[in-house]
Amino acid sequence: MTQDLRLAIAAELERTRARTAALTDAVDETDLIRQHSPLMSPLVWDLAHVGNQEELWLVRDVGGRDPVRQDIDELYDAFKHARKDRPALPLLDPGQARAYVAQVRDKALDVLDRTTFDPSRPLLDNGFAFGMIVQHEQQHDETMLATHQLRIGDPVLTAPAPPPSRVRVAGEVFVAGGPFTMGTSTDAWALDNERPAHVVDVPAFFIDAAPVTNGQYQEFIAAGGYDDPRWWSERGWAYRVKAGLVAPLHWVNDGVGWHNRQFGWVNPINVDEPVVHVCYFEAEAYAAWAGKRLPTEAEWEKAARFDTATGRSRRFPWGDESPEPRHANLGQRHLSPAPVGAYPEGASPLGVHQMIGDVWEWLSSDFDPYPGFAPFPYREYSEVFFGGDYKMLRGGSFGTDAAAARSTFRNWDHPIRRQIFSGFRLARDA
Ligand SMILES: [Fe+2]
Repeated sequence: MTQDLRLAIAAELERTRARTAALTDAVDETDLIRQHSPLMSPLVWDLAHVGNQEELWLVRDVGGRDPVRQDIDELYDAFKHARKDRPALPLLDPGQARAYVAQVRDKALDVLDRTTFDPSRPLLDNGFAFGMIVQHEQQHDETMLATHQLRIGDPVLTAPAPPPSRVRVAGEVFVAGGPFTMGTSTDAWALDNERPAHVVDVPAFFIDAAPVTNGQYQEFIAAGGYDDPRWWSERGWAYRVKAGLVAPLHWVNDGVGWHNRQFGWVNPINVDEPVVHVCYFEAEAYAAWAGKRLPTEAEWEKAARFDTATGRSRRFPWGDESPEPRHANLGQRHLSPAPVGAYPEGASPLGVHQMIGDVWEWLSSDFDPYPGFAPFPYREYSEVFFGGDYKMLRGGSFGTDAAAARSTFRNWDHPIRRQIFSGFRLARDA
């Protein structure tokens, strides 16, 4: 049992590091050090930062070992330096960063070999600290993928196209009013903000069976949606004017039609793919134009997890088993969302499609703790963000790894952000 868990953790750590290496080996040294957008860290910062977190939690805390590089803790503390300031720091160069993360990994694997997962130590129970570090590195891999999307230059990443649509998915699904279990108390690697499981009574609502597509979003643009303050909230309109928004990020119009730039390739938009790279305010305006609204976080989670036959909440829309490629577009296997209808096997019991993978979905809810929340293992993981200027995002994107894409996983960001792989679907009161 202990040995099985050790092997499973070692495999997750290795799989995750392979992705980090692929993302950082794809570009030359100049591109690793460069800041591709003031919103993002240089890739070489992310690289050493994942190693530093691994050192702090696994080598020093779990393992009780001496520091590898205590002198660099401050440089890689995300709370100490805003992303825009990170290029000016005396960072490890690419060679030093690679050597550092490899040295930390050797020590972490040695700690893993000697760990007994003592259930009386919450950090060790079921290998939680290792799972947290795997998810942390995977989340940075998604951030690094977003940096690649912002990078100007010839394409360096390639991947097969996502699967085609296999079923027609349209319209909305009715979700009857009533209680369901939100969050989790049992998922071993669930983070503090997903806990504890609690019952929420959700009034009846309708939710779209699929996310809003590029084709639908294009109609909003063509109808003058970006020029009509009626559809925008006051804050949303002020931002739309200030930032000069006219279309999703990475869209360009050649006078004939809309194209989008994906990782250096420019192609006509695929009208059947979920729209991506929109901010919360754009999603909110589209919803108003369409005569609907964004779902709440509880509505989204109920539509994703609630099993109408048994009344219990599943780990994923399709069941409790971890995602397979047939279920959802996750893990950077493809470099774009898949067309609507591509994942019939991933639908929820209520018949809602593509809730996991493809695009993060903006929700109308703010980031608040669940009743009974307890910070773990540190306040800075979630608690310091509660009540801030954030909106919730759920479900993960094509850039999100399965390790961080369960139906209870909560993500949050500022409502103006759109360099992330964010889209949305619509809901309305019943
Ligand atoms: Fe981080």
